[in-house]
Amino acid sequence: MNKLFFLSFLYCNAYGFENLTNKFIQVDEHGNKTNAKLKRINCLRKCLRLTNCMYVAFEFRDCSFFSSFESFKFFSPNEIDLYRKVESKRPNLVYYWVVQNAKIKEIMNKNDLYTPSNMFYTSDRFGKSNSSFHLDNGYVILPPIDKLDIAFTILAWVKLHSYKDNQRLLDFGNGERSDNIIISLSGLQTSLYFYIYHGSTKYSINSNLILPLFNWHHLGFVVTGGSSYIYLNGSLLLHKNHNVSNIIRKINRTKSYIGKSNWASNPNVDSEFDDIKIYNGVLTQYEIKDEYLSNFL
Ligand SMILES: *[C@@H]1O[C@H](CO)[C@@H](O)[C@H](O)[C@H]1NC(C)=O
Ligand SMILES: *[C@@H]1O[C@H](CO)[C@@H](O)[C@H](O)[C@H]1NC(C)=O
Ligand SMILES: *[C@@H]1O[C@H](CO)[C@@H](O)[C@H](O)[C@H]1NC(C)=O
Ligand SMILES: *[C@@H]1O[C@H](CO)[C@@H](O)[C@H](O)[C@H]1NC(C)=O
Ligand SMILES: *[C@@H]1O[C@H](CO)[C@@H](O)[C@H](O)[C@H]1NC(C)=O
Ligand SMILES: *[C@@H]1O[C@H](CO)[C@@H](O)[C@H](O)[C@H]1NC(C)=O
Repeated sequence: MNKLFFLSFLYCNAYGFENLTNKFIQVDEHGNKTNAKLKRINCLRKCLRLTNCMYVAFEFRDCSFFSSFESFKFFSPNEIDLYRKVESKRPNLVYYWVVQNAKIKEIMNKNDLYTPSNMFYTSDRFGKSNSSFHLDNGYVILPPIDKLDIAFTILAWVKLHSYKDNQRLLDFGNGERSDNIIISLSGLQTSLYFYIYHGSTKYSINSNLILPLFNWHHLGFVVTGGSSYIYLNGSLLLHKNHNVSNIIRKINRTKSYIGKSNWASNPNVDSEFDDIKIYNGVLTQYEIKDEYLSNFL
């Protein structure tokens, strides 16, 4: 069953399902259908109407619905066809910094990092050497971040080395209080937080989370409309509705950093990082959990 879980999914624009053994089928498929096939399609249609139905499993001619892969695994008969629901608007990976063999590359748009300060290559969470990077009270500069939509998802693996208030995972903006997207890792006064500035208006989520040091943790941050979310290791940690319809502007952010703040008084970061990914659009909690559990690029 594990094998199924680790298969990468095709990204499709249609509303439908993916056969987790790799065949995509659309619910509105035309043509002459056998009874078994018709029955199957009716099952999938029913799942589409249920917002909490994410997976459909078939055994002989019966189907069962599941809200998560975990619940399917709990049920988990051996030979079974499993389908996963595909939303019509798939999130689109726009920035992805990959570290390998002591090199870091942004593979989606060639937004490679530059002017590293106190940056070292180190082992990733699987123990593979030179496959993640350590900013030892350091930072790197990013090219202007100009491809972000007003709904996005940021994911990253982090391994904190010390607590410092306001140390940044990232700060994308145009200076202080200027359309910033800020993720700050644990300090002693300030726990992990996620701030968005709409111009100079701040929309914040402050967590109570003090990340344990010297351990890899997977973090997720989502903005959509007037809401923002923080995920830890694939589970929702916090959610806030900010009472406005939109908390962010689509704008070119020319002062964008990993590890460094747009506020000169803040310290540089002391942490290792890996697999920093930014998607336009919202990943569901199932997709974020998949990212947390996955062991492939
Ligand atoms: C799912 O895909 C596999 C591999 O392509 C195929 O053998 C199987 O018949 C498919 N199942 C259905 C229900 O389409
Ligand atoms: C569908 O297929 C069955 C058997 O293959 C055939 O008897 C029937 O006439 C077909 N129906 C249509 C509408 O083509
Ligand atoms: C890591 O990268 C450095 C710089 O390229 C190299 O000197 C070193 O041998 C590499 N270490 C391993 C274990 O691959
Ligand atoms: C997150 O998951 C990793 C294993 O993947 C674990 O080592 C770490 O302790 C978890 N972090 C928290 C805060 O639970
Ligand atoms: C949030 O919006 C509602 C409806 O517009 C309003 O009644 C309420 O006072 C607002 N709350 C805050 C904290 O602004
Ligand atoms: C963002 O700003 C940079 C630097 O001013 C510029 O080179 C780039 O073309 C801008 N991007 C867009 C989409 O305007």
